[in-house]
Amino acid sequence: MKSLLHRLSPDQWDAWYSEGRAVDRLVTDAEVDRFLQHVNPHAGASVLDVGCGIGSFSRQLSRWGYDLLGLDFSPIAIRTAHRQGVNGRLRYGVHDFDAGAIPPRLQPGSLDLIVCRNILPFIDHTRFMVDARRWLRPGGQLYVLVRVWSERGGEPAERPWQRGFTEEQVQALQNGWAEQNRCWLGRHTALFLSKPRSRTL
Ligand SMILES: C[S@@+](CC[C@H](N)C(=O)[O-])C[C@H]1O[C@@H](n2cnc3c(N)ncnc32)[C@H](O)[C@@H]1O
Repeated sequence: MKSLLHRLSPDQWDAWYSEGRAVDRLVTDAEVDRFLQHVNPHAGASVLDVGCGIGSFSRQLSRWGYDLLGLDFSPIAIRTAHRQGVNGRLRYGVHDFDAGAIPPRLQPGSLDLIVCRNILPFIDHTRFMVDARRWLRPGGQLYVLVRVWSERGGEPAERPWQRGFTEEQVQALQNGWAEQNRCWLGRHTALFLSKPRSRTL
């Protein structure tokens, strides 16, 4: 069994982006439909796109009026995202979620929504889920999109960027959230998790 703890480096992701593997069409109409079923965009909501890549989903969210911060540890991805346009409500930065100090903007209870598209299997997700819950305001939401494999390390060795979770790992992500909604998008599963509205829950 391959270890999921093996980390793909920023250089490896830079190479992936240089080869032009990430394209905008990764955001499908089906995903947008599901997203809008479970998340109500309201202008000015504060959103973090974790491992935002070239910003495909960040740009979509920004068009809906969200106040967006996209962070990724691949400088090439962030440069590419920048080139597509930034403004007062759409910003990007280079940040390593496993190694970097927490950016000052990520204060406890400061975010309405956190987006994790195809990122959790690449980071220390157990630690991240604790951080995410702290950064969300009461009632805030976490959106996770992840590929599901029948066994750990199911992705082909030559395609490490297709890393995903097992069904068991997806189930574990849902523990402790006030509301959990789930649907399938092809081989990916989408989770919409809500933090309790009351601090006492
Ligand atoms: C499969 S891509 C997904 C990109 C984007 N979320 C999307 O859905 O198109 C995974 C991304 O996670 C980023 N990444 C992996 N480990 C990271 C870490 N420790 N901190 C920040 N970004 C990371 C990579 O650079 C890459 O852009």
